[in-house]
Amino acid sequence: MGFDSKFAKNIICIGAGYVGGPTMAAIAAKCPQYKVTVVDINAARIAAWNSDHLPIYEPGLLDVVKQARGRNLFFSTDVAKAIKEAEIIFVSVNTPTKTFGEGAGKAADLQYWEKTARDIVKASEFDKIIVEKSTLPVRTAKAMERILNANDKGIHFEVVSNPEFLAEGTAMADLEKPDRVLIGSQLTEAGLKACESIVEIYANWVPRDRILTTNVWSAELSKLVANAFLAQRISSINSISALCERTEANVYEVARAIGKDSRIGSRFLNASIGFGGSCFKKDILNLVYIAESYGLHEVARYWESVVLMNEYQKRRFVQTMIRVMFNTIAGKRIALFGFAFKADTGDTRESPAIDVTKQLAEERAIVVITDPQAMENARKDLESCISQVEFASDPYAAARGAHAITVMTEWAEYKSLDYRRIYEEMEKPAFIFDGRNILDHEALHKIGFNVFPLGTAAWKHF
Ligand code: UDX
Ligand code: ADP
Repeated sequence: MGFDSKFAKNIICIGAGYVGGPTMAAIAAKCPQYKVTVVDINAARIAAWNSDHLPIYEPGLLDVVKQARGRNLFFSTDVAKAIKEAEIIFVSVNTPTKTFGEGAGKAADLQYWEKTARDIVKASEFDKIIVEKSTLPVRTAKAMERILNANDKGIHFEVVSNPEFLAEGTAMADLEKPDRVLIGSQLTEAGLKACESIVEIYANWVPRDRILTTNVWSAELSKLVANAFLAQRISSINSISALCERTEANVYEVARAIGKDSRIGSRFLNASIGFGGSCFKKDILNLVYIAESYGLHEVARYWESVVLMNEYQKRRFVQTMIRVMFNTIAGKRIALFGFAFKADTGDTRESPAIDVTKQLAEERAIVVITDPQAMENARKDLESCISQVEFASDPYAAARGAHAITVMTEWAEYKSLDYRRIYEEMEKPAFIFDGRNILDHEALHKIGFNVFPLGTAAWKHF
């Protein structure tokens, strides 16, 4: 049914963000027989996708884009034309947490999704498969199907859920070799046929036994639950980090000891200043909201505590800083090493560095921010306290004259800086707060620093 008969399938993706861009680039690179078009209403974003300066930083992405762009991968702002020609439409528009009205602060804001559904109805002239790629509350597919199929053109839309599990920074590797691909559909004949059509795309490079098919509600819910479980592990180990600091136990040793139990597993047990990123908090709050809306209050409270522990960890970190720096940080320069929510990305959404900076600014400290990729985003995030903030792209310059360094992001380059030189140029006593536990604390202590790791005893000179 596709317009461009040169290609076996005509696929489009609405929303050229962190999910849509890399996912579609991977599909296009793996499947030259398909035409893949990514559309977005944001013209600047599309222009960037068509240049060598992609709108997001993701290792390996530019190579994959270059391999397919102009051949079978296209980026465009003409949403209506792309919809008209497509057989399969992936939708990966943003679904932020609602900031207003019923469910504010918890429920997903579905206005972009609904607007997209209406755009699809308007521009379509034949039957299509709609693929939910954005993370959505369970049972959204049903609502979308109602909007889509309430058309008077006699067109049938089949909605399939295909949540994306890629993590930022490793997106291309995750897409190349996913642990699993999940596709949920209605169990009707039309639903199963649509499901098979999406399975076919991934089967070009993903082994069949890694492609799971489920009913549509399980697929939607599994995405929220996967993120909730991952975040729960981090909150669990972070809660133990607080206990370790009081008891002289060492959180790495505890994590290693429990992680060796194959039933627990070793990953996602790194104690940290807290989890960030666009997904974890949003998806858990979404789960909390859904549980509440079904009257499952205990379930809601259980998952909400994962977010509360994360907030506590950030607060606790700043409280320690203030306490050990003689109960005042007013007027003191504090260098933040890293602002991104994790290494290898410029993304700062929900980054713990945002809250930490705001708390430090409230205490009237001067916060100097350095990050290899996230400076532009940091500037936008910190508009409300910008008079207390400075930026320095060179970490040595950021630390010069500072009373303390706090490591916010685990960038590899922070491990190999010349800390002797940094120490010499800092105010004394010089402090390091390692919110990621990536530095050699003993060596830093020998240089003269007072070192405060997470979840282990401090290395102090007083
Ligand atoms: C996450 C999920 O991993 C991915 O499957 C989903 O599709 C989107 O959400 P992402 O947000 O990109 O991916 O990053 P992730 O690597 O999961 O890290 C999230 C946060 O947890 C980061 O702030 C990270 O620093 C933190 N983290 C992770 C820890 O603090 N400790 C850990 O052990 C692991
Ligand atoms: P994610 O992390 O889920 O990929 P992003 O915010 O990075 O989310 O990307 C979502 C993209 O969707 C944005 O570039 C935004 O401009 C785009 N978008 C939102 N609504 C529409 C719409 N109605 N039509 C086309 N694109 C849209």
